[in-house]
Amino acid sequence: MITDRSYAVEPWAVRETALDLDVLAQSESVFALSNGHIGWRGNLDEGEPHGLPGSYLNGVHELHPLPYAEAGYGYPESGQTVINVTNGKILRLLVDDEPFDLRYGRLVSHERILDLRRGVLERTCEWTSPAGSTVRVRSTRLVSLTQRAVAAVAYEVEAVGRRTRVVIQSELVANEQLPEPNGDPRAAVALQSPLEAEEHFASGHRLRLVHRTRRSGLRVAVAADHVVDGPGRTTTRSESSADVARLTVTSVLEPGQRLRVEKLVAHGWSGTRSLPAMSDQVDAALAAAAHDGWQGLLDEQGDCLDDFWTRADVEVDGDEEIQQAVRFALFHVLQAGARAERRAIPAKGLTGSGYDGHAFWDTEMFVLPVLTYTAPEAVAEALRWRHSTLPAAQERATQLGLGGAAFPWRTIEGSEGSAYWPAGTAAFHVNADIADAVVRYVAATGDGHFERDTGVELLVETARLWRSLGHHDQHGAFHIDGVTGPDEYSAVADDNTYTNLMARANLLAAAGAVERHPGQAARLGVDAEESAAWRDAAEAMHLPYNRELGVHEQHAGFTRYQPWDFAGTRPDQYPLLLHFPYFDLYRKQVVKQADLVLAMYTCGAFFDEEHVARNFAYYEPLTVRDSSLSACCQAVIAAQAGHLRLAYAYAAEAALMDLQDLEHNTRDGLHIASLAGTWMALVAGFGGMRRHDDGLRFAPRLPERFSRLAFSLQLLGRRLRVEIHADKAAYTLLDGPPLTLHHHGEPVTVSTDGPVIRTVPPPKPRPTPDQPLHRAPNGG
Ligand code: BGC
Repeated sequence: MITDRSYAVEPWAVRETALDLDVLAQSESVFALSNGHIGWRGNLDEGEPHGLPGSYLNGVHELHPLPYAEAGYGYPESGQTVINVTNGKILRLLVDDEPFDLRYGRLVSHERILDLRRGVLERTCEWTSPAGSTVRVRSTRLVSLTQRAVAAVAYEVEAVGRRTRVVIQSELVANEQLPEPNGDPRAAVALQSPLEAEEHFASGHRLRLVHRTRRSGLRVAVAADHVVDGPGRTTTRSESSADVARLTVTSVLEPGQRLRVEKLVAHGWSGTRSLPAMSDQVDAALAAAAHDGWQGLLDEQGDCLDDFWTRADVEVDGDEEIQQAVRFALFHVLQAGARAERRAIPAKGLTGSGYDGHAFWDTEMFVLPVLTYTAPEAVAEALRWRHSTLPAAQERATQLGLGGAAFPWRTIEGSEGSAYWPAGTAAFHVNADIADAVVRYVAATGDGHFERDTGVELLVETARLWRSLGHHDQHGAFHIDGVTGPDEYSAVADDNTYTNLMARANLLAAAGAVERHPGQAARLGVDAEESAAWRDAAEAMHLPYNRELGVHEQHAGFTRYQPWDFAGTRPDQYPLLLHFPYFDLYRKQVVKQADLVLAMYTCGAFFDEEHVARNFAYYEPLTVRDSSLSACCQAVIAAQAGHLRLAYAYAAEAALMDLQDLEHNTRDGLHIASLAGTWMALVAGFGGMRRHDDGLRFAPRLPERFSRLAFSLQLLGRRLRVEIHADKAAYTLLDGPPLTLHHHGEPVTVSTDGPVIRTVPPPKPRPTPDQPLHRAPNGG
C-alpha cells in the first residue's frame, strides 16, 4: 500500500496533525465543506497562508470569449468559468501587536479533523508569536446540509501563560487576491476582480455585501451575524466598504480566558432578483440560522449525517485504509450533490476551480449511481437541472442540424463550454448517459411523477438526437458514425460500442416511456411511427466485433490500428496527451480510460462471461488510465472476470486518488467521479451489483484483503443490506414488502423475516492481464 501518508487512518475522520505549507492547497480540497450550493475550501480561518482561496456558490460563473485561431461553424463563442465569490469564512487574528500568521512565530501544535459523522471541520492549534505571546485557537466550521444558504464558524482564542490582547476581525471579503493563475489567460482575466460592488452594510454584529458579476450579470449576496462571548471588557465595532465588511472584536485575556465568536453566514445569488430582494433573502436566511443558533445548526448537521450513514454506509473489515477512504468518498459525494437543487454537480464538486467548475458526464455515470441508492432525492434534483437546460440543448442540436437535444459535454449553465470538438460535443454519449441516469433513478425509486414530469421529455429528446445522428445502412444495420466515446484517445470514430449500446438503451427506454405516458407523448408530438423508428434503430444497432480475435471492438476498426509503442514511452511521458499529438493518439491502439470495459459494466446483459474475460484481457494492456475515471471501471470488470487482486488495486487507486493525491492535482479540487467510483468499485465490483430489467443482481466476491464488506441500498422505498464474507453473502431486507433479486444468477426473495444466506462460488481461474509498461495500478 502507499506509504507516504498525509492523514492518519481512522474509520470516521480525516485527521491532519502537522501543517505542511507545501501541500496546503491539497488539504484545502480534502477539507472542503459543501452542501452542493455553497462550497468553502478548507482554507485556514485567518485567510492566510493559503494555497487557493475558494468560496463558491453553485452556478455563479463569469463568461469569457472563446476566440479561435481558425474559427468553424458551430464553435461555442463563450466560455464559462466558476468564480471565487465573497469569502465569508475569514476571521483574522491579532495577538498582542502581531498578526496570527503560521508562517511566522512557532506553531507548537496543529490538528485539523474532518469529522465525517458530524459534518464539520475542526481545528485546534497552539501558536507562539515571534514576540513570545502564546494562544490556543479552536475553530469548528460547517456548511449546513439542512439550511442550504447557511455556513457557520465557531472561533475561539485562549491566552496561554500570560495576559494577551487579542483582536478578531470577522470579515466578508469580495474580489480576494488569488494566486497567479496558470492556464488560459482569457479565463484568467475574467477571474480577476470578477465582482462589482452594489451594496455594503455593517451595523452592530451584522454585515452584508452585495455584488454583481460583470458579464454574466449574476447578483451575489453574502451576510453575516455574530454572537460574541468574551471577558468583561470585550468591545466590538463594525464597518464596511465596497469589498470588505468587518466586525472587529477586541479583548484582553488573562491566561486561560477565552474569546469566542460564532459567525453565521448566509449566501444567495440570482440572475433575476433585485438588489433589495437579494439583501432581504440573505437577511432572512440569517434570521433562520440565528433562530437555531450555532448549537442548533450543529445538531441538525449531525442528525442529517446520522440519517445519511444509516442509508449509505459501506463497512470494510480487514482494510482500514479503504474503510476510511470509502467514507471520505461518500461524504464528499453527498456534499457535492446534497443540496445542489437544480444546479449542476461539477466534476470537482464545489471543492476547487479545476475544470473551470464545469459539470461533465461524470455526474450521470459516476455520481448519480451512488446517490440513486443512498440519497435519491438529490438525483431527481440533478436530473431536473438537466431538464431545465433542455432549451439550450435543443438549440445546440438545431445548430448542428440534428433532432432532439444535444446536451453539452461541459457546462455550468447549460450551454456547450467545450472549445474542442473531438473531446467536446462529439462525445455525444453524454446524452445517453443522462437517459441512463433517468432510467436508473426511476427503476430504483418507482418515482412515477418524476418520470412523467421530467423523465419522459429527457428520454424523448435524447432518443430524437440518436435517431437523427445515426442512420440505417443498405442492409438495415444502424450506425452512429463520427463520435467520441469515453476514451478520449480515440475521437470522431464510427460505431463506438459504448455509445451504440447506451444509445440503444436510450431509444428503447424512450419508446417504453411514451407508451406508459401517452399524454406526455402527445404533448411532445411523439406518434407511433416515431417510437417505432426508435425501436427499429435500437434493434438494428451495429456492434463492431473482431471475429478473429473474438473481442468486441471499441469502435469500428479499432483492433486493426497500429499498437501504441508502450515500450518506447517513458514513465514521465504520462499523461500522454501532454507529450504526444492527438493525431497520433487517435490512430493507434491506446486507451485513455475505460470505454469498452465501461460498456461491459453499464450494458452487462450484452456480454457473456467469456467475452467479459476476453475483452478485458484485450483492452487492459492498452489502457493507460490518463483519466481518474478509469480505475474504478477497471476494478468493476476485473472483479467480474475473477482478477480480484487486480480489482483491489484499482479500487484502492480510485479510493486514494485524493487522500494520497495520486494525480498531483488534488489542489485544484477533488476528483468527485473517482470518489464516487470508490463506491462503484466496492458495490459493483466486489458486490457484483448490476441493474437488469428484472431488478438488481449481485455476484459478490471479496479480494483477499477484505474479511467482510457490507453496504446498504435504498431500493423502491425499502432498505436492503448486503453483507459479504469470503464464502457467503447475506441479503437482508430491513423494511418494506419482499423483493426478488439475483445472487450469482440464482433468484432469491428477501423479506423482513430475516437474512437470506447464499454461498459465494470461487471465480474461474484465469491469467491476470498485464497493464501497459509503467501503468500498473497505483493502489496495489
Ligand atoms: C476525462 C473525461 C471526464 C473529464 C472530467 C477528462 O480527463 O477524459 O471523461 O469527464 O476529465 O472529469
